[in-house]
Amino acid sequence: GGLFFRHAASATQHMGSLRGGPPVVPANTIYRTVQQQDYSAGIWLRRKEKKLEHSQQKCIVIFALVCCFAVLVALIFSAVDVWGEDEDGITEENCNKNCRVVLVENIPEDVTFSENGTSHLPLSAGLHSLLDLAVAGHSVEIVSPQWNLNSSDYESRFLQSSRQHCTIIMLRFLSLSILSFPTCVGEVHYINMTALTKGFLHSSFWVVDRQHIYIGSATMDWRSLSTMKELGIIVYNCSCLALDLHRVFNLYWQLQYKDFIPSMWSKRLSALWNKDENLPLLFNNTKAEVFVSSSPDVFCPKDRTRDLDAIAYVIQKAKRFIYISITDYLPLTNRNAHRYWSRIDGMLREALILRNIEVRLLVSCWEQTHPLTFNFVWSLKTLCMELANCSMEAKFFSPRKQRDGTLQGINHNRFMVTDSAVYIGNFDWVGNEFTFNAGAGMVISQAEGVKEKNSTLVEQVRATFERDWYSRHTKSLQANKIPVCNKLKTKTNCRGQ
Ligand SMILES: *[C@@H]1O[C@H](CO)[C@@H](O)[C@H](O)[C@H]1NC(C)=O
Ligand SMILES: *[C@@H]1O[C@H](CO)[C@@H](O)[C@H](O)[C@H]1NC(C)=O
Ligand SMILES: *[C@@H]1O[C@H](CO)[C@@H](O)[C@H](O)[C@H]1NC(C)=O
Ligand SMILES: *[C@@H]1O[C@H](CO)[C@@H](O)[C@H](O)[C@H]1NC(C)=O
Ligand SMILES: *[C@@H]1O[C@H](CO)[C@@H](O)[C@H](O)[C@H]1NC(C)=O
Ligand SMILES: *[C@@H]1O[C@H](CO)[C@@H](O)[C@H](O)[C@H]1NC(C)=O
Ligand SMILES: *[C@@H]1O[C@H](CO)[C@@H](O)[C@H](O)[C@H]1NC(C)=O
Repeated sequence: GGLFFRHAASATQHMGSLRGGPPVVPANTIYRTVQQQDYSAGIWLRRKEKKLEHSQQKCIVIFALVCCFAVLVALIFSAVDVWGEDEDGITEENCNKNCRVVLVENIPEDVTFSENGTSHLPLSAGLHSLLDLAVAGHSVEIVSPQWNLNSSDYESRFLQSSRQHCTIIMLRFLSLSILSFPTCVGEVHYINMTALTKGFLHSSFWVVDRQHIYIGSATMDWRSLSTMKELGIIVYNCSCLALDLHRVFNLYWQLQYKDFIPSMWSKRLSALWNKDENLPLLFNNTKAEVFVSSSPDVFCPKDRTRDLDAIAYVIQKAKRFIYISITDYLPLTNRNAHRYWSRIDGMLREALILRNIEVRLLVSCWEQTHPLTFNFVWSLKTLCMELANCSMEAKFFSPRKQRDGTLQGINHNRFMVTDSAVYIGNFDWVGNEFTFNAGAGMVISQAEGVKEKNSTLVEQVRATFERDWYSRHTKSLQANKIPVCNKLKTKTNCRGQ
């Protein structure tokens, strides 16, 4: 269109200049016609030329479109690669597998164990050591459901070292809600879990310098460093493990401010190791096999093991015993709708009945304990009645009521230990948790120590479980003696109905 009009206009101009002479003569008309024809031919020729040009342009446009399309496809297949930063040259081939591991715990003041009880590095000291290790120019990545280290002692003690570093290291925090935040932080990002899965962010882990990691039950809440009983692990000099956990962090990082989940994840978020292909490591010079798990399903890119499958893996691998320490145990998908959720409960029943594995369940008895907890735990226990080689025991860890009415010493642990492996996660074992909430876990398998007793991490976690189990803070579950954890709830649910 445009091309044609431009030529038509120039043709009339041309004709006008030809017409400039005296009034019309027939000969002149012929000449004009010839001229016109000539010119028409010229135009035609030029238009043909233009057509050629036009098709060249078309080619270029098509080529550009094809290029765009190719880039788009590449983008889709690698979804977020463009803004996914590089992994500091650390790859699964050259990463460090000779690691040092420590158990970290927060034991509230009121909770005491016998003198010989095992004790571990205090959590706050462990986290400090991680901050102190951070090297200039590198990163501290923290995922926590909340950040509530208020202006009390805890914050000042804890943040002293982070403040010292904050001008030189890249601090990256991910959180669901932040109540009080350190004055000096790097980037703080939020994940809107409500929009993504209608769930919550329960993940709690650290990745420092792509070298050291922390994972465990504690969050960045002052209670985790004071009144709650927490357990986690810190692994030093372990870039392989850090690399994989960093990928979980990166996945969250890319969901910041988004209100939808990409249908496809970048290749660079895929798991490096999983339940089918564990990462072989040395923990304090002892062989170990490790992998990272994640929840919910929609947050699991290619090859990432889901938390539920990690739990199944550990339960099915157990040969002699399964010890579980969690705050809440409730095989229901919904606290109110009461739909039975059999995944973990079923696995435990199978282990008890079909494989004669000894099961010990240590849950908390606190203000939010659901009254039906006891029904389910009791049901597991009665399964073993009159059955030879079937052993199921349940105990409750009771916190202390302070003078101001608050509870002190709630067992916030979230782990399971067997004769061969330990699973440390971010969830309580309640159906909804695994379906909608974001969390991460880690499975560590180790053969039983040969040289000395309690030498492996798995054995140390077991010793920690046994310390709690036999402590004076626990009560056995007995028939006709259902503990009252939350008087109000028990009343409305048992007598009110
Ligand atoms: C603690 O260990 C000592 C020996 O190391 C032993 O004599 C004592 O009975 C132990 N106490 C408890 C409560 O186990
Ligand atoms: C701040 O921390 C102290 C513990 O040191 C606690 O008693 C207090 O309730 C906390 N304040 C807020 C607003 O969370
Ligand atoms: C999170 O998403 C929900 C639902 O899409 C929305 O109502 C809410 O405002 C969002 N919250 C924030 C902090 O953006
Ligand atoms: C990490 O390994 C290096 C070299 O092997 C060593 O010097 C350093 O002390 C280790 N760091 C920790 C925290 O174990
Ligand atoms: C119980 O275990 C013992 C030894 O482990 C075995 O001899 C016995 O047959 C088992 N009993 C049943 C009923 O499985
Ligand atoms: C590993 O070694 C460190 C000291 O280097 C020690 O503190 C820690 O308890 C050891 N961990 C295990 C699981 O033995
Ligand atoms: C190993 O741990 C158990 C508790 O699980 C404890 O009874 C035992 O004394 C410990 N053994 C050594 C050698 O520390």
